[in-house]
Amino acid sequence: MQLRFGKYMAAALLAAGVLAGSAQAQERMVEGEMVGEAVKYRVNIMRAMGAHMGAMGAILQSKVENKGDLAAHGAALAGLAGMWDDLFPKGSDAGSKLKPEFFNDGAMTAGIIKALQDASLKVASASASGDMAGVGQNIGAMGAQCGACHKAYRLPQS
Ligand code: HEC
Repeated sequence: MQLRFGKYMAAALLAAGVLAGSAQAQERMVEGEMVGEAVKYRVNIMRAMGAHMGAMGAILQSKVENKGDLAAHGAALAGLAGMWDDLFPKGSDAGSKLKPEFFNDGAMTAGIIKALQDASLKVASASASGDMAGVGQNIGAMGAQCGACHKAYRLPQS
């Protein structure tokens, strides 16, 4: 299989993902019109991740013949997952579907985010080495965290 990303490039991207992922949990706060922008930004990141995961799923199921793209999708997911330490500034539940409890359940929400980040790093390394089973398994692990948070902390569609 011809990979579009060299081994070292993937390793550098992985390291960047790890560093971003280890950033301090934020105490940042948003108010006024910044609230809606923070929510839009967060949803854009989630949509982007869902899009990469969907594209990878199509490759894994041989619906498309774009195996050479796997490593780039994997690296993108690891990079996007690294942004999660700062996607939920205080106050960003106002007018959104984020339940306010999110901010009181620090250990639980940090656990979900950490598990999402760990799984994304495994997706990145498996996709860089062409380990298709590993890619599939860890995309599944990511999806479980998306679902866990939606179930616990997202209000139903209004
Ligand atoms: C830590 C909690 C959390 C995690 C993890 C999470 N989401 Fe979300 N997601 C939310 C919340 C809350 C909303 C509602 C909008 C808002 O306030 O951010 C949302 C909204 C969305 C939306 C927009 C549709 C809607 O209901 O508004 C999409 C698409 C989405 N998430 C996809 C994903 C995907 C894909 C993942 C995993 C890669 C993921 N989410 C992981 C909390 C989370």
